[in-house]
Amino acid sequence: MPAIMPDPTAAKGTVPQGATLGLYDLVKRYGSGPAAVDGINLDVAANEFVVLVGPSGCGKSTTLRLIAGLEDASDGVIKIAGDKVNHLGAAARDVAMVFQNYALYPHMTVAQNIGFGLRRRGASRADVKAAVAQAAEILELTELMHRLPGDLSGGQKQRVAMGRAIVRRPRLFLFDEPLSNLDARLRLTMRTEIKRLHARVPTTTIYVTHDQTEAMTMADRVVVMNAGRIEQIGTPMDIYNTPVSRFVAGFIGAPAMTFADGVLDDRGLTLASGLHLPCDARHRGPVTLGLRPEALTLGDSGMPAQLDMLEPLGAETLALWQTDALGPVWVRMAPDPALRPGATAHLHPDMTRAHLFDPASGRRVN
Ligand SMILES: Nc1ncnc2c1ncn2[C@@H]1O[C@H](COP(=O)(O)OP(=O)(O)OP(=O)(O)O)[C@@H](O)[C@H]1O
Ligand SMILES: [Mg+2]
Repeated sequence: MPAIMPDPTAAKGTVPQGATLGLYDLVKRYGSGPAAVDGINLDVAANEFVVLVGPSGCGKSTTLRLIAGLEDASDGVIKIAGDKVNHLGAAARDVAMVFQNYALYPHMTVAQNIGFGLRRRGASRADVKAAVAQAAEILELTELMHRLPGDLSGGQKQRVAMGRAIVRRPRLFLFDEPLSNLDARLRLTMRTEIKRLHARVPTTTIYVTHDQTEAMTMADRVVVMNAGRIEQIGTPMDIYNTPVSRFVAGFIGAPAMTFADGVLDDRGLTLASGLHLPCDARHRGPVTLGLRPEALTLGDSGMPAQLDMLEPLGAETLALWQTDALGPVWVRMAPDPALRPGATAHLHPDMTRAHLFDPASGRRVN
């Protein structure tokens, strides 16, 4: 068993390839009731970093467990490197999964935890030692090799769990909310570390989170799930700029998009509150307007608004304004020390950045 990178059998200068992954009409039912995974289709390229994101219970973990072979599919096909693997057990699929709770062996040192999987597969002492040393170096764990998990911080434990996964040189890396037990600061650091790890040890990665910021910052492509189905697949910017549904629009982006119902006709958009806005979309009839916080600016004309709350973030300020036309709206603004809650102003929506959805189906219409 070779050590992890560089692969001695690979030509000089080449990097080890992760496998492609294909999910086709994949279904998982637990008993009666709605399917946990309800017919999903996804093609993942070799070494791609794909993030599955969606609200609690939408089927993210179930999808991951189906890929790992920890659950049997009720229907559909799973392919790794082009081969159907539905009939293969978890061990034969050659994938590594990192969980939220690390699952380290408490009585083993860091080095023993990282090398455990290799030892169990019968690798020689020398190969295990080399692979563990290399993983420890990549993850900056070298100083901690003789510690027990009980003496590590949350972030260090998480790195050990990743070390254990990477020494195996799996064809796929599967992460299920690996950062959700960490505090906000450490989450941010580990987010960067996982991306750095992916750059240094390129492997096809499926990363599950319910945190849309994690999805936006880490993914090559984001898969937004809702109730067992895929709502949208795209790059983070695709999903942010052109959400295909009101669900995706509301889920991705913080602060969230503001929505208001109205009607589109030849004169433009008239909101339920009576406010009239110019709009050159070709769609006619009832629509839901969606505006992101950066699509609104303060001006002399527009919707009368009163400032409710300020969140100064340093470089910019998020301001929550109360309006009759749209209700409460978040606006992204330049910092202004003179601005205080209670201040009044006019908000001007940039309608070239408006998102319009069919109120009945929730699908995008512009
Ligand atoms: N072993 C099981 N038996 C029965 N139902 C299950 C089982 N595992 C999951 N489910 C159900 O399947 C659905 C999807 O669950 P899943 O764990 O995949 O969601 P998730 O997207 O990972 O949610 P979360 O963000 O809360 O982890 C849920 O309705 C859940 O209750
Ligand atoms: Mg889950």
